Amino acid sequence: MNPMIVEHPLLQHKISLLRNKQTGTKEFRDLVGEIATLLCYEATRDLPLEEVQIETPITMAKTKVLAGRKLALVPILRAGMGMLDGMLTLIPAAKVGFIGLYRNEETLQPVEYFCKLPSDIDERDVLVLDPMLATGGSAVDAITMIKKRGAKHIKFIGLIGAPEGVEALRTAHPDVQIYLGALDECLDQKGYIVPGLGDAGDRIYGTK
Ligand code: PRP
Ligand code: URA
Repeated sequence: MNPMIVEHPLLQHKISLLRNKQTGTKEFRDLVGEIATLLCYEATRDLPLEEVQIETPITMAKTKVLAGRKLALVPILRAGMGMLDGMLTLIPAAKVGFIGLYRNEETLQPVEYFCKLPSDIDERDVLVLDPMLATGGSAVDAITMIKKRGAKHIKFIGLIGAPEGVEALRTAHPDVQIYLGALDECLDQKGYIVPGLGDAGDRIYGTK
């Protein structure tokens, strides 16, 4: 599946603010949340609706509501947490799981340190959240862990991806639809996305 790059002007404007190295921690964190809300709008476009009958102050009407599809959000710690509240703004009833992974800075391989998922994750549509899809190692491992618990409908939502990460994720999990705010040029020798925005976790939390 080709990645869906969300071209909405508000989202593109906010990503440019994120990329600017002058943007401080508070503004960066707020922007990550706002962009997550915009990505959530796009990634939930195919949620099923059902018709109901309601009474407006004027008359009876047939209208549509969500057909009760069960959702789970799974941020990849740490940086994925920055997207969680922005997603919950639009889908407040979603359950939330957590996967802790960090990249070994030398090997660039993901190292797992935490996994806590909703017990009924196999019955839910899962949205995996991580701002950065670089080599793709973290996203591939996280989705493998979620599939091992029986989940079948999974989407990956990120702010910025590299072609290398998109290819790795598509190869390992061809059934997973990828939503991104931008697809950048390449990775540098340290595995950072170019032009990217730097280290997402450090910029969200003001570390380093
Ligand atoms: C960052 C980012 C992704 C990962 C992407 O996390 O949030 O999880 O790197 O890189 P990959 O596609 O090459 O795996 P990091 O390891 O810096 O951990 P952090 O979120 O705790 O800062
Ligand atoms: N992780 C980040 O936070 N930024 C990158 O550019 C690559 C991986």
